[in-house]
Parts: sequence; structure tokens; C-alpha cells
Amino acid sequence: MNCDPYDWIEPAINTMRRASWYRTVQAIEGKPGAVIQLAGKEVINFASNDYLGLAGDDRLIQSSVAATQEFGTGSTGSRLLSGHRELHRKLECAIASLKQTEDALVFSSGYLANLGAISAIVGKRDLILADTYNHSCLKNGAILSGARAIDYPHKDIEVLRNQLFQQRSNFRRCLIITDSVFSMDGDLCPLPQLSNLAEEFNCMLLVDEAHATGVFGATGAGCAEHFSIANSKLIQVGTLSKAIGSLGGFVAGSKLLIDFLRNRAASWIYTTALSPADTAAAISAIALINSEPQRRQQLWDNVAYLKQQLPLPIIDSQSQIVCCQYPNAKAALQASFQLKNAGIFAPAIRPPTVPTSRIRFSVMATHELEHIDKAIAALTKILL
Ligand SMILES: Cc1ncc(COP(=O)(O)O)c(C=O)c1O
Repeated sequence: MNCDPYDWIEPAINTMRRASWYRTVQAIEGKPGAVIQLAGKEVINFASNDYLGLAGDDRLIQSSVAATQEFGTGSTGSRLLSGHRELHRKLECAIASLKQTEDALVFSSGYLANLGAISAIVGKRDLILADTYNHSCLKNGAILSGARAIDYPHKDIEVLRNQLFQQRSNFRRCLIITDSVFSMDGDLCPLPQLSNLAEEFNCMLLVDEAHATGVFGATGAGCAEHFSIANSKLIQVGTLSKAIGSLGGFVAGSKLLIDFLRNRAASWIYTTALSPADTAAAISAIALINSEPQRRQQLWDNVAYLKQQLPLPIIDSQSQIVCCQYPNAKAALQASFQLKNAGIFAPAIRPPTVPTSRIRFSVMATHELEHIDKAIAALTKILL
């Protein structure tokens, strides 16, 4: 037999190209910020998750450098073997204090935090009910767990209630999982109703606060704070890579849950601990989230200003993620290309990531009104 077992790859890539689904990376030069250098050209950045503008902040950089000088570049082992540092515990205490939970556990990324938490707390005899728009790591966490996973239509509490009514008693444990801010539309999950349903049907509730931590709530604790959810058993997952401006992820919740995860979450146990540099940067960022609430206020002022003026229909959003709708992937790609030529970096988000094509604007606290004015002017011009 003379056939090449890899000969399917090129046609698969060609199919993606034909559908305008093919993607490539583009290098950003220099420090992150509201204005960046992209392929040698200065552009206003509406593509970043650095919502509070902390990733390029000198105070984070200084603490990162100091931690590297004191502790080295790598943590050299997993937390349970040789990789644990006091710095990790300090970060976990800072997260628990921000989130107002009993404890927290730091993972090497938000993706790993979700995989680890979900697959540790449910298994073959259990049920997961998941919002159909959930992030990839919640979906893959559900698959990894081996539990029976059923999606409910996006934010549809009535369907979820029905599913619980019909299915709950057939399973040992039940876990409801949802993003709090949906990353591709910018809308919020109905957290109070989800929390009530979880209580009514004796379910655990896991909420991914990746895009909410540092941004929502009076102190930046996230959507749980925004919605005044007082459930001390709520499982809150998050990332250190967005408003916190570093790298890594976390689970925050009860002492017992965190103790259990330290013993059962494979993506925490069998991986190298977070680097000293990332850990120290995250500690500094949380201190700034506490001491500089004006950053959050500036972010929300900027969001309101952008939303007021966008010349295209926007997808219903209650967050710093604001999307303009386009009829298809090609039109969205072309608009993104034209915006970039006009000095505005706002990516086209297309299927299969989302069902419909759009240009996605991520607003930052460090955008100036002039930056937003320029984006609106460029968008209006390409519509003419
Ligand atoms: C909702 C959501 N959860 C989790 C993640 C993963 O976090 P991390 O980048 O830290 O792996 C992301 C994006 O990156 C996200 O948008």
C-alpha cells in the first residue's frame, strides 16, 4: 500500500481557506497598550483582553523583574513536588480576598483551571448542563469529565429548568456551567436565576469569570459581585491573563473545594507551577485593582461612549466587549482589513468560533476619547 496517511491535511486547510475560516498570527511589537505597533505600523488597539491597561504597567513589570531576579525564570516543578513558592500562596490569598471566597487555587492558565475543576468534580455518574455559547475550555472540561453533558440554548432558563426537571433525578451529582461574560457577544449570563435553579435542584454551579474579573462589581470581583450572589459554595473560575494583565488561571470557592482540587485536579497536579514572574505580576495587578477603582470607571465611560456612536447594528452586550454584525465572514474580514489600513485594530470573528460574523471591539480603560472617535470615523468611512 503506497498511500500517505497525512495527505488529508492540505485539502483540509484548502477547505478552510475557501470558507474564509483560515487563520494566521500577526506579531505585535513592543509593549501592550491602547496604541500598539502592528507589522511596523501604529494602530489603536481594540483587540486586547488587557481591559484595565495593566499588562504594560511599569509596576507589574518591576515586580515581575524583581521576582525573576530573586526566584529565577522557571518554577522547575509541579506545586506538590518542588515547584511551590510562598509567592503562589500569596497570590491565592489575594485572589480569595478579591473574590471574597474562603480560598483559591492558581493554575497555569484559565483553560487548565476549567479543565481541571470540571473533570475533578463530576464523572461518569453525573450530569453537566451547559450554556451552548460557553467557552471552549468549559466544553472540553465537560468532555474530559466523562459526565453526561447537555447544552441548554443560550441563557434560556426555562429550557434549563425543564432539563433539570426531566434529568436531575437520574444522576448522582449535577453541575451547571456557564461563562459570566460571554466572550464573543459580550452579554452576561443570568447568574441570579442560575443560582436559584442550582439551589432548587441541588446542583453545583460553576461560573467562568474570565472576562469579568477586575472589571465587574464595585471592587472588581466579577459578575458574582455585580449580581450580589451570596452563594458561598459558588465555584468561580477565572484567568490572570485578561484584566489582571499576566498569565495563569484560578478557581476560587470554599476551603473544602480547593482542598479537594489540590488532590484531584489533574491539570493542576501534573503540570509545572506558574512562573515567579507571572505570579508576581498578578499579585501587583490585584493590588492595583483594589487601589485604583478609577480604572474601572474609565472603562465603563469608554464603553458607553463607543456604544452611543457605533454606526452599525451591535450584538446585545452589557460588557466591555462590543460587536458589530456583518452578513458573512468575507464582509467581516474585509472590514477588519480596511479598519487596519485606517489604523484601527479590531478583529473579524467568524465561524466556527461564532455562528455569525462580526467585528469585535474590546474596550480598554486606557483608551482615550480620541481613540474611540478615530475608530467610529474609520468604521463610518468604510460603510460609505
Ligand atoms: C471565557 C474564557 N474562559 C477561559 C479562557 C482561557 O483563559 P486563559 O487564556 O487563561 O487560558 C478564555 C480565553 O482565553 C475565555 O475567554
